[in-house]
Amino acid sequence: MSRLAARTGRIATSPTMMVTAAVDQLKRQGIAIVDLGAGEPDFPTPGPINAAARAAIDRDFTKYTPVAGTLDLRRAVARRYELDYGVRYQESQVIITAGGKQALFNTAMALFGPGDEVLLHTPGWPTLSEQVKLAEATPVFVRMRAEDGCTIAARPFLDALTPRTRGIVLNSPCNPTGAMISEGELTLLAQEAARRDIWIVIDLCYEKLIFAPVPHNLPRVLETHCPGLGVICGSASKAYAMTGWRCGWTIAPADVVAAESALQSHATSNVASITQAAALEALTGSQQPVAEMRDEYQRRRDAVHGWLTKDGYFSAELPPATFYLWLDVSRLLSAEGLRTSNDVARVLLDEVRVAVTPGEAFDAPGFVRISFAASLDILREGSDRLVAFARQRLTPPVVSR
Ligand SMILES: Cc1ncc(COP(=O)(O)O)c(C=O)c1O
Repeated sequence: MSRLAARTGRIATSPTMMVTAAVDQLKRQGIAIVDLGAGEPDFPTPGPINAAARAAIDRDFTKYTPVAGTLDLRRAVARRYELDYGVRYQESQVIITAGGKQALFNTAMALFGPGDEVLLHTPGWPTLSEQVKLAEATPVFVRMRAEDGCTIAARPFLDALTPRTRGIVLNSPCNPTGAMISEGELTLLAQEAARRDIWIVIDLCYEKLIFAPVPHNLPRVLETHCPGLGVICGSASKAYAMTGWRCGWTIAPADVVAAESALQSHATSNVASITQAAALEALTGSQQPVAEMRDEYQRRRDAVHGWLTKDGYFSAELPPATFYLWLDVSRLLSAEGLRTSNDVARVLLDEVRVAVTPGEAFDAPGFVRISFAASLDILREGSDRLVAFARQRLTPPVVSR
């Protein structure tokens, strides 16, 4: 019998964190790595946000706050979404959390339980399904079509619904593919959710990193078509380059927020007061840094996509959002050689010292995730090494006679 509670055996360590750990270990040994594995912005947190945190310390804003966050910050989140999406929320519908991760965790705990099925898309971010398992519900994976760039579509979800379905969890824009769900497709899901009285949870963590001017007003679709059944989880991490500060939020019906506050009150209490002061500045201050970072990601996306695909060894859709390129490495796979993208990622790290995240981490073998949250120089170097590696592997060696 295990010494540990059964739930610990149901979940796996975050595979994306495992890549980070392997890279850290090599770096500690003094080995230089071209790191295309990062799941976080390489930009510093914008100056005014840092200044707001310093000012918070200087005025001794260093004590407990209400569990759900300061009133100012909850209002600022509501106001941000009103400005961005034209949808109005009360502060009772907002709770501030330790990153988007805790927002999603609280939500899974508050909404799902034993016997419930929860639909999630693959490729997808592994934490979402692990959290469903921690809530003792059953994740049901719904595969999106690689031929459509893994665009999140309604039909496969509708086909997977059963009387036990309790919720649908979507991540749009999606880590690892950068794909999104359109307003029209979400409308179909929201209408069905309203008919069946099931939840729709949307992880909007990458909402500020959309390049193409496509409509993505998902909060409005939820409000219109399944009011009372939509939950939004957001985060300051990627939008404002604030991953280390740990600030996210859930926007949900007030009873859901009250339940999440009760859970959080026994787990972590409030998010650090200083972080809350910083996030208040992030949400209410100039949004110009967000636009600048997004534009830079777009330049990098175009460059790295060109470098990696031009010789035909790899293929990839141009991602409409996020800082990830979803690279098809299937040409490198064979029964005798590299059999999986895990193998590809390992050999790339061992032989050419480039870190990428294998598709298996997102339940999608045959692909690796390339992060372009890195400078153009690093991206150029990484791309060159990947292409040289593929050229060498795929060119039959010249046999001398
Ligand atoms: C899809 C997705 N959602 C949520 C998060 C949570 O980020 P944080 O907890 O830093 O807000 C991440 C982080 O990588 C992510 O990729």
